[in-house]
Parts: sequence; structure tokens; C-alpha cells
Amino acid sequence: MDLLNVSKTRYTTKAYDPNKKIPKEQFERLLEILRLAPSSINIQPWHYFIADNTAAKARIAKALVGKYAYNAPKVLDSSHTILFCTQADISETHLENLLSRDEISGRFKDEKAKQGQKDSRTGYVDYYRNEKGDIQRWAENQTFIALGQALLAAGIEGIDATPIGGFDEELIAEELGLAEKGLIPSVLLTLGYRSENDFNAKLPKSRLIKEDIFTLL
Ligand SMILES: Cc1cc2nc3c(=O)[nH]c(=O)nc-3n(C[C@H](O)[C@H](O)[C@H](O)COP(=O)(O)O)c2cc1C
Repeated sequence: MDLLNVSKTRYTTKAYDPNKKIPKEQFERLLEILRLAPSSINIQPWHYFIADNTAAKARIAKALVGKYAYNAPKVLDSSHTILFCTQADISETHLENLLSRDEISGRFKDEKAKQGQKDSRTGYVDYYRNEKGDIQRWAENQTFIALGQALLAAGIEGIDATPIGGFDEELIAEELGLAEKGLIPSVLLTLGYRSENDFNAKLPKSRLIKEDIFTLL
């Protein structure tokens, strides 16, 4: 299936069939696609919590209460739910980890190239932290690129999905000890197979028209 077709046919699933499970190998492919997502200066500021069983999904659903309760069945009936988190700040340890991974991957022909990468990355991080003054927003933007990639990937793999921003951030942070890990919760993604009763599967897609969103210069 080509990507335009996937863009037309993928949709936000509102009700899942709780009895259907994504095959293990296929789910591993999705995780690998997530790992390969691009990010600004390859900063990869994300961490993913994966719930693939009833108890784990129930832990996530603790954050789906009150005004977010409508999202709870999606998580509980999904095959897998992923919580996308973002590093609250970019630490020296993370920068060192990235640089050493670049080196192991064979991206530097000599020490000078390595130093150049280190300086450039540090420069951008300092710019977003000190001049733009909102490093967390920049970092979280990257995590949402990964979300977009995962949504398209799910569509190509024939897996239904729901991006979920409606959850209690404090409750999920508490449940998973995110602050201690230096993480903030960004978005949930449920994956699985639509229920026959999913009203949204039958609704037509609605998008602004080209004239509203494109300006040819
Ligand atoms: C970041 C993000 C957060 C969203 N949060 C929710 C949510 O909490 N609950 C929900 O049912 N849908 C949620 N959606 C789904 C959107 O409403 C949906 O993508 C949009 O209406 C377009 O419809 P489509 O995905 O079916 O094409 C979210 C989508 C995105 C990208």
C-alpha cells in the first residue's frame, strides 16, 4: 500500500477488539521503526514505556480518569500501548552517549570529525536552552516526529492506532516514577485492531482544504 493511500485510510481508532493481539515480530518491527525516527541533531530525547499485558495497561489507565476516562477503554482493550516520554532536559550523560554511539556506528573518520560533531551538537543544545529558552518544547517536538512515524508505520502494517494526548500527566508521572528518571510524559499510542462497534471507522475523514493550508510563493 502506498503512503498516500495509508494516509487516506488510517484513522483514529475509538474502540478495540480486546481479543486480538499484534504478532510479536510485527510489534518488534514497529519498535525498530520508532528507534529509527529522525530528530533534530539526532538528539533522540525520547524514552518509551511499553504495556503489552493486562496489568501493565491497567497501570497506564490509572492516568485515564475524570475528564480523561473516555480514553481508558482504548488502552485496556488495545493489544499494546506505548507511552512516549521526553527527557525533561538534555544532560551531559545523554550527549556523551549519543557521541559514543555515533563513533561506534562508524560516523567519524578521525578525532577532528568527532570533536566537530560534539561542538555542533552542544552549540545547538545551548542555543535551545539559553537563547530560545525552551529546550523542553524543542525536545518534545522531536518525540512527536516519532509519533507521526509510528502512526504511518502502523497504517502500513495494517494495525489500528490511537494517539492519545488526553491523560493526566501528573498521575502517569507518579505511577511510573518519571520525575526521578528525568522524563516528562508526552503522548500515548494505543495499537491493536478495531472493534466492529467502532463508530469512527465508518466516518469520512475531515481535513481543511488545500487553499486553507498551502501558500505557493
Ligand atoms: C497529539 C494527538 C493527541 C490526540 N489525543 C486524542 C485523545 O486523547 N483521544 C482521542 O480519541 N483521539 C485523540 N487524537 C486523535 C485526533 O483527534 C485525530 O487524529 C484527528 O481528529 C484526525 O483524525 P484521524 O486520526 O482519524 O485522521 C489525538 C491526536 C493527536 C495527533
